[in-house]
Amino acid sequence: MPFLSAALDRVKPSATIAVTDKARALKAAGRNVIGLGAGEPDFDTPANIKLAAIHAIEAGKTKYTDVGGIPEIIVGSGGKQVLYNALMATINPGDEVIIPAPYWVSYPEMVALAGGEPVPVVCTAEHGFKLQPDALEKAITPKTKWIILCSPSNPTGAAYSRAELKAITDVLVKHPSVWVMTDDMYEHLVYDDFVFTTPAQIEPKLYDRTLTVNGVSKAYCMTGWRIGYAGGPAELIKAMQTIQSQSTSNPCSISQWASVEALNGPQDFIPVNNKAFKERRDLVVSMLNQAKGIDCPRPQGAFYVYPSCAGTIGKTAPSGKVIAKDEDFVTELLEAEGVAVVQGSAFGLGPAFRISYATKNSDLEDACNRIQRFCGNLR
Ligand SMILES: Cc1ncc(COP(=O)(O)O)c(C=O)c1O
Repeated sequence: MPFLSAALDRVKPSATIAVTDKARALKAAGRNVIGLGAGEPDFDTPANIKLAAIHAIEAGKTKYTDVGGIPEIIVGSGGKQVLYNALMATINPGDEVIIPAPYWVSYPEMVALAGGEPVPVVCTAEHGFKLQPDALEKAITPKTKWIILCSPSNPTGAAYSRAELKAITDVLVKHPSVWVMTDDMYEHLVYDDFVFTTPAQIEPKLYDRTLTVNGVSKAYCMTGWRIGYAGGPAELIKAMQTIQSQSTSNPCSISQWASVEALNGPQDFIPVNNKAFKERRDLVVSMLNQAKGIDCPRPQGAFYVYPSCAGTIGKTAPSGKVIAKDEDFVTELLEAEGVAVVQGSAFGLGPAFRISYATKNSDLEDACNRIQRFCGNLR
C-alpha cells in the first residue's frame, strides 16, 4: 500500500515559492541576489491596522470565532484558502474549470487536487493577455463547472475594462451551468486612471452563480496576516464553510479584527503606495525594453510585468548553455547575475518571465541593469 496519497501525483509545488526559496538560499550562502519572485509588497502594514490587532489582543478577542469568520461572508486564512474551499466544495471528478493563461500558478493545481480538469485557454500578449469572447465560447463544454477570472492579473498585470468584461459576461449568460469565480485580489492596485470592475457589478444575471473573492494581502500590505474573504450564493458559502469547519476552522481572530480596521479604516495610504508602484512599473518597463531580446508590455494593474524573452531563445549564456526555453533563461540569469524571476511556462505561457516590482527602486534599477547586461552578453 503506498504511503502517499495519489492526489499528490496531480499537483506540483508552487514555482513562485520555489524561486523565492532558491533566492533566499543563495543569499544565505553569501551571493548578492535580488529576488523579484515573490508577490508581496515591501511596504509595512499601516500602523492603524497593527494597532487594531493589538487592541483585539488586549480586549480578549483571542477565542475561536464562527468558522466562516466574524462578518456575514466567508473569511478564510488568505484568499488562497477561500479559493481552495470553493473548488473542494464543488468539483466532482471530470468537472472542467476554464482558466485563462497566463494564470496564477495555484489555480490549475487546486483544480487538479480537487479532482477536476483544468482547461487553460491561452491569451496572448497581442490581446493584452486577456480572454477573448470567442475563445471562451469554444472552451465551454457540458462539463464546464467554473471559469476563474483574475483582474488585475497575477502574473501579467492585465486588467479588463468594463466593456471587455461585459463581452465575457455576455458569453457566460448564454451558458447557465457555468459558474464564475472572480479573484479580485488586486482590485485596488490599478494605475493610469483605470477603473476596476467585477462581473457581479456588470451582469446581474450572473449574480446567483458568481463567487467574488478578495483579500487584504496585497493592497493592505498584510500578506502574513492570512485573511481572504468571499461573497456568493448562500448555499455555496455554506458548503465552503463545511470544508473549512473540518480543516482549519476560523482564521486567526486577531487578524480578522485587524482586517476589519483595514477595510473600514482610512484608505489614504493606498493612492500613496500606488503612486510608488506606478513609478516602479514605468521604471521596470522602460529598462526591460532596453534589454536585447526582451519585449515588455505595460500593464494597468497589480505589481507584475510579464516580458517576453523570445528574442533570447537559441542564444548561448556565459556558462556555455544554450537558452532553449524560458526556464533556461531564468536559471542562467540567476546563475550569471543573481536576479531571481519566475519563468512564464509556470504560468502557462512562454517564453516569458514574471517580475514582481513590489520592491525598492534601487533594487529594481540594479536588477534591470543586470538583466540588460545578461541579455547583452548572450551570444
Ligand atoms: C491572483 C492571486 N489570488 C490569490 C492570492 C492569494 O493571496 P492570499 O492567500 O495571501 O490572500 C494571490 C497571492 O499571490 C494571488 O496572486
